[in-house]
Amino acid sequence: MAEQLTIPSTGTKKDIYAAVVPQIEALIASESDLVANLANIAAVLKQAFDFFWVGFYLVKDGQLVLGPFQGPLACTRIPFDKGVCGACYREKQTLIVPDVEAFPGHIACSSESRSEIVVPVLLNGEVRMVIDVDSKALNDFDEQDKEGLEQVAAAISRWLAKYGD
Ligand code: SME
Repeated sequence: MAEQLTIPSTGTKKDIYAAVVPQIEALIASESDLVANLANIAAVLKQAFDFFWVGFYLVKDGQLVLGPFQGPLACTRIPFDKGVCGACYREKQTLIVPDVEAFPGHIACSSESRSEIVVPVLLNGEVRMVIDVDSKALNDFDEQDKEGLEQVAAAISRWLAKYGD
């Protein structure tokens, strides 16, 4: 069956998240493979928002390991004490970085990246992965992205509770 994404052609970012989140939920609801689902979620977010880089770092072997993504080549492994992703893991909360050069310890996978948002996916209080989004523009992420991406994270968390990984 062909999968199709419906994205409103007009409207705010909030409207786009409102349209996309339920479609992500439906897309992953009956698929039990984690990598397949994360790959499709990265594709949906890229298609909906044309993000420069969007993808996942999964908690594995005591560090963050690159998962499915869309965008340029990225760093493979991030220690918990490094980068915005490591800070998100430690703090268990969404981090919006308006200017990556002003964030101590930021890891520049691409020199073109200027701002970033990282959202944790929690299950039973433990961070299982983070959603990382990068932009080529300064100050490109706001509360609407935080709210929308936290809804995506919550959908993944519900999926993890159902299927494990
Ligand atoms: N900038 C991130 C590293 C991952 S890349 O942006 C894809 C960080 O500082 O953790």
